[in-house]
Amino acid sequence: MSNELYFPGLEGVIAGETAISNITGELRYRGYAVNDLAAQSTFEEVAYLLLFGDLPTEEALADFETILGESAAVDESILEFLSNIPLHVGSMDVLRTGISALSHFDPQLHDESPAASQAKATRLLAQIPTLIAARHRMRQGLPLLDVRPELSFAGNLLWLITGREPTASHERAMDVSLILYAEHEFNASTFTARVVTSTQSDLFSAVVAAVGSLKGPLHGGANERVLEVLNEVGSSENAERWVRDALAKKRKIMGFGHRVYKDGDPRAVLLKPICAELARETQDDRLEQIAETLERVVREEKKLPPNLDWPSARLYHYLGIDVDLYTPLFVASRITGWAAHVIEQSQNNRLIRPRSRYIGPAERPYVPLAERGDPR
Ligand SMILES: CC(C)(COP(=O)(O)OP(=O)(O)OC[C@H]1O[C@@H](n2cnc3c(N)ncnc32)[C@H](O)[C@@H]1OP(=O)(O)O)[C@@H](O)C(=O)NCCC(=O)NCCS
Repeated sequence: MSNELYFPGLEGVIAGETAISNITGELRYRGYAVNDLAAQSTFEEVAYLLLFGDLPTEEALADFETILGESAAVDESILEFLSNIPLHVGSMDVLRTGISALSHFDPQLHDESPAASQAKATRLLAQIPTLIAARHRMRQGLPLLDVRPELSFAGNLLWLITGREPTASHERAMDVSLILYAEHEFNASTFTARVVTSTQSDLFSAVVAAVGSLKGPLHGGANERVLEVLNEVGSSENAERWVRDALAKKRKIMGFGHRVYKDGDPRAVLLKPICAELARETQDDRLEQIAETLERVVREEKKLPPNLDWPSARLYHYLGIDVDLYTPLFVASRITGWAAHVIEQSQNNRLIRPRSRYIGPAERPYVPLAERGDPR
């Protein structure tokens, strides 16, 4: 095989076609600029757009919201099982298990038609917040809560987790973060979902594999590590020294850099003023100041701009959410993009099976067991 065909990490490789999102130039979901969606629509509208291909009419949206509300409950036996998982197990691991368990109760598990996949994805969208919040509240010894029909998806997510009535600004901040996390073409977890789907496996298996892929700190897991960075740095005065030290040790600074956006992640730009606004509300802009200094120094030293996980971590912190839930919140949103890709892949499928370049030992004769020397 020619060396020219090898691109480490598949950088720059076009590995398939998609009509779901485009990140070249401006980020767009099914043709709509994400800036417009973040400014004017709700996450429910965006979820519908991704799953069904178009923005909903008022009637379609109302139906979709009703289904989401009615599908949020999960089987008691799943909750009981989650309550028996050792408390030290992280929320992302438990969510992966919970989604796998949901598959055993889904009436359409083996129906991979687009309509069934849309229905399954809608149920997952409704049930993932229930799983996240249930496990969190069990761990805290708090009673589980029911969704409230008068609240939006974002509002319910906050309500179910914190048990507090979300303020309008908190609800909107969560909504925008969900919109921005919803879809991003062939990122690692989405590509994972497409690879699983390409074998004609089921949607739940694709989503479970995608959750495992998202968990890694180079992908979705970065948003949890970002808060650790901010806490470790501790003050703006310390930021400069901390960055130089981290770079000297060849440490990757979480929340910076991107495989595709080398000049900056437009989603991070959109979320930053919302973080500043939330910080103003809390009358504590310490994290904003640390973040600002870190951004400046990382740009000066390494020419690296922040990615979406950089402001998201602060945003979730201001909303009073535990760090362990940041990546699960990414799942609560990205389930829409994953499911859209699963449907797209299965409608025009070809097994995804690339090749590798062999770099192991040269050809060698087989040595019978009795003639092998001790390799030590
Ligand atoms: C996202 C990420 C995996 C992209 O990686 P990539 O496209 O493979 O980029 P590379 O690792 O080739 O990086 C190119 C250079 O920038 C450096 N770099 C990239 N991201 C960095 C970071 N966050 N901190 C410090 N250096 C970084 C690399 O070390 C490399 O430097 P070098 O040329 O001196 O060796 C990478 O930027 C990263 O690890 N970021 C932190 C994790 C994160 O925030 N993930 C969320 C992504 S949305």
